[in-house]
Amino acid sequence: MLEYNTIYLDYNMNDKVIFSGVQPSGEIHIGNYLGAISQFVDYQTDYKSIFSIVDLHAITVWQDSEALRNSTREVLAIFLASGLDESKNIIFNQSQVPEHTQLSWILSCTAKVGWLNRMTQFKDKAGKNKENASVGLYTYPILMAADILLYSASHVPVGDDQKQHLELARDIAHKFNTDYSENIFVMPEPLMNKSTTRIMSLRDGSNKMSKSDISEYSRILMTDSNDKIALKIKKAKTDPLKMPNTLKESESRLEVNNLLNIYSACALMKKEEVISKYASKEISLFKNDLTEVIINKVEPISIKTKQLLTDKVHLDNILSMGATKAKEISCKTIAKVYDKIGMINK
Ligand code: TRP
Repeated sequence: MLEYNTIYLDYNMNDKVIFSGVQPSGEIHIGNYLGAISQFVDYQTDYKSIFSIVDLHAITVWQDSEALRNSTREVLAIFLASGLDESKNIIFNQSQVPEHTQLSWILSCTAKVGWLNRMTQFKDKAGKNKENASVGLYTYPILMAADILLYSASHVPVGDDQKQHLELARDIAHKFNTDYSENIFVMPEPLMNKSTTRIMSLRDGSNKMSKSDISEYSRILMTDSNDKIALKIKKAKTDPLKMPNTLKESESRLEVNNLLNIYSACALMKKEEVISKYASKEISLFKNDLTEVIINKVEPISIKTKQLLTDKVHLDNILSMGATKAKEISCKTIAKVYDKIGMINK
């Protein structure tokens, strides 16, 4: 078996290891920030953290190549501007570490067609036009399993929409370990997001805030100007009533409830406190304050992001450094797996 030099010396298999991926497709919005990125920032103190910009996942639906490159750098810039430290963590784009695709093939020989057929995200994304969806969109969860298992991640932060994919990764890991009678892969555990940070569309409180929503007024981007943020909050759908008095009342009014969640997450205030602060007040007054609270959160990140994006060479160097560190770990996993399944790999 090949021996690899260890550059990333302080990585220990017994550590708590987090892996998460963010797709570089479309622009990052406040739902991505509050629901994922801001939590990564908290996790980086307690876990060895690996954050991947998953460009190979993004191309399961067609991407313009220039837009993909820009978006990859933008996700990195937002990571850094939000406080992720590239020297403490491993931050890289997935395609620069070919072991992801190598392991993905092997795991596709472990996973069963029946398991993939149960994936609800594929059914939702492919819609009625299943025959025309790419094969990559169908096998997407296997690549995601490879991402996680390559680094022996013990924990994966997931929202509701990715829970089923993580369960599949566990099924694959278990079957592989059983097939080859050795615990090669660590079973990853979910780290569930706090419920208050599930941010919904500003136009429809029953839909998640999404990069692909046709209305730009449905989301606040992390690069929006202050005026844009103010306008989007002003136009945000609510109802004709005054602000709710109780948590229970809030929860029955989807749109207002969502705005309260955004306020609470941005201001780092308990939702109950926000509710009592604005109880029975006019929604317009609340919206003015909400705008300010969002701007306080978004503006510093947006300024820093734009600054970072002016130096592409620097950003690309960070990705390449991250890929080098990632390979130190992923190469070892591949060597172990190849050996186990009988590949000659001197
Ligand atoms: N599928 C995830 C999403 O769309 C992104 C992702 C890819 C991911 N690989 C991962 C998330 C590994 C967690 C772990 O949000």
